[in-house]
Amino acid sequence: MTESTTIRWEQDDTGVVTLVLDDPNQSANTMNQAFRDSFAAVADRLEAELKADPDAIRGIILTSAKKTFFAGGDLRDLIRVTPGTARDLLDGGLAIKRNMRRIETLGKPVVAAINGAALGGGFELALACHHRVALDASGTKIGCPEVTLGLLPGGGGVVRTVRLLGITDALLKVLLQGTQYNARRAQENGLVHEVAATPEELIAKARAFIDANPESAQPWDRPGYRIPGGTPSNPKFAANLPAFPANLRKQTAGAPYPAPRNILAAAVEGAQVDFETAQVIEARYFVELAAGQTSKNMIQAFFFDLQAVNSGANRPQGIEPRTVRKVAVLGAGMMGAGIAYSCARAGIEVVLKDVALESAVKGKGYSEKLCAKAVSRGRTSQEKADALLARITPTADAADLAGCDAVIEAVFEDPSLKHKVFQEIEHIVAPDALLCSNTSTLPITVLAEGVERQGDFIGLHFFSPVDKMPLVEIIKGERTGDEALARAFDLVRQINKTPIVVNDSRGFFTSRVIGHFINEGVAMVGEGIEPASVEQAAAQAGYPAKVLSLMDELTLTLPRKIRNESKRAVEEAGGTWPTHPAEAVIDRMVDEFGRTGRSGGAGFYEYGEDGKRAGLWPGLREHFTKPGHEIPFKDMQERMLFAEALDTVKLLEEGVLTSVADANIGSIFGIGFPGWTGGVLQYVNGYDGGLPGFVARARELAERYGERFTPPALLVAKAERGETFTDGR
Ligand code: NAI
Repeated sequence: MTESTTIRWEQDDTGVVTLVLDDPNQSANTMNQAFRDSFAAVADRLEAELKADPDAIRGIILTSAKKTFFAGGDLRDLIRVTPGTARDLLDGGLAIKRNMRRIETLGKPVVAAINGAALGGGFELALACHHRVALDASGTKIGCPEVTLGLLPGGGGVVRTVRLLGITDALLKVLLQGTQYNARRAQENGLVHEVAATPEELIAKARAFIDANPESAQPWDRPGYRIPGGTPSNPKFAANLPAFPANLRKQTAGAPYPAPRNILAAAVEGAQVDFETAQVIEARYFVELAAGQTSKNMIQAFFFDLQAVNSGANRPQGIEPRTVRKVAVLGAGMMGAGIAYSCARAGIEVVLKDVALESAVKGKGYSEKLCAKAVSRGRTSQEKADALLARITPTADAADLAGCDAVIEAVFEDPSLKHKVFQEIEHIVAPDALLCSNTSTLPITVLAEGVERQGDFIGLHFFSPVDKMPLVEIIKGERTGDEALARAFDLVRQINKTPIVVNDSRGFFTSRVIGHFINEGVAMVGEGIEPASVEQAAAQAGYPAKVLSLMDELTLTLPRKIRNESKRAVEEAGGTWPTHPAEAVIDRMVDEFGRTGRSGGAGFYEYGEDGKRAGLWPGLREHFTKPGHEIPFKDMQERMLFAEALDTVKLLEEGVLTSVADANIGSIFGIGFPGWTGGVLQYVNGYDGGLPGFVARARELAERYGERFTPPALLVAKAERGETFTDGR
């Protein structure tokens, strides 16, 4: 028998075997080959010892020596699966499932003592145990997040949650959303049986279960077992079945996310057959997802790229990390108020300054509202909320900014005003305070000219609503020093947000690229394409916001102002402005029809008295639509996706972007590029036919819709060299 190193066997003299998950080569336990071998060896040994002496072992406790209980499938392996290697994956998956099943049917009680995160494969392992006790600690997270990576739980997770909770609850509470529960919520929702306050209590409870249940079996292995809530063979249940695909369409808005569909199929089909057959069905649906492109895209973005970005792949090396204690937020409007809240939530003292005390107090009111909501929903305690609010000091007096070690400016988007407010406070805050501007479009290098310490000046572009949006775009001006960049990076991490780093340029990365998405949608309206189809195309491509409604939110006047300023700057520098067909549409909307967007009460949409959208403006069809003019739906979607992707490649060419991971993460988390693509450059990598396929398609779009789709040189060169967009990490 092979001695297992990944799973440690500890047996006491009462006959309880504790299997300690402790991969010697990794910081977390994963379902890698070493684990699979160890797990098989453990199953062999358990069976052998019990065969020799049925009383040798009274029960088994599964726990972990790591911070996490078990991290699940090894994503480095999964991202490499191809249709050609899918068979191996299927066989390997079935083998591990068989071994889980052997332990589940030993006839002895098996308890999972969950002492950290048990997500995905970790929770599946726990589901194969007869009893689950979870430690009530901040690191304990329980659930099946596979759907968020374009996968399904392929280690028996679908089969067992359906048998544990019933089809409906398994789908809604566990499988389709990928919800991660803390210990208490996991217990409330029936995912674990007990919660323990301390590690000692955790093991004591596991032992108590073994003492009380000498012959344990899963509910589904007991005679007369029925799946809770019924199965499709029950007419009452069957009547509800059509609601599932309808909900699914609601969840994905028709965008190409294959995982929810496969999860639904595995759950419903698996509920109608015996346990073993259900495991095979689940495995097949899993392998189909793992071999497909979407899961690769999603694993790349939501795991690898996110990790690279958050771990500081772009932070200058060798600079000591620093923590900000007290931050000055200048301007208590929509953005300033949200920034103040996010900083205070992370434990930073905030001085929130506006021109009048009344405005600053109103800005703090935003935090008061968010805190009250969090308390009423049980997401935080009154004490914590009070402490958060006590950290925010509203003021109109610059003297109150003394001692601030960072400044975040969020006054109106006006360069001379921004210069003025920095001059006012530069000598009041700490002499080495980090100086940040939240401008969404103005060049950082120009804004920096307003301060004496230009090396400490940097862009910190937050997204609205700040408390919800996870991204911050850090913009390095020409004179920004490495120290400032490192400090800005640390500050963004300190407030638990995700920082991407770009070099200075008008509109930076995010504002510039989202403009291409919007312009393309607006241009299609101008070409006479049915506006409702344009909206539908954006939704079905997977954009969280429809394109014309987004335009209305941003107002038609603001992008127009920015465009005119950019145009002037380009022409003053002797360049030619590449006029976009959307410009004429926006000009007509504003100048001829007086429709400036939602805040003006009329835009591409009509708005009711209450400010709610009341349908697309019928005038669009009258003034822009050519009846009967249609283009393929695929073209409509790809015009938006390609417009963003092609400009992102140009930003790499121009050196504004320096990292592929930043582009992917920034596009999904900042500007709503569809998640199924894995981000704007992964979309290019994963396009049908790879980069050459993407280049060919871009050329086709250029021929049909305009030169702006001509693939940039960098893209063509990479396609010719057989490369993809990666950071080489
Ligand atoms: P806002 O109009 O809601 O707030 C601006 C605030 O600045 C007002 O409360 C105003 O009283 C205050 N202010 C003006 N002069 C001041 C002075 N001398 N000292 C102190 N406070 C002063 O504007 P919003 O939307 O919060 O935008 C602020 C900045 O953030 C702008 O630069 C904008 O481009 C940028 N931004 C906006 C985003 C958005 O979605 N609205 C997203 C990202 C950045």
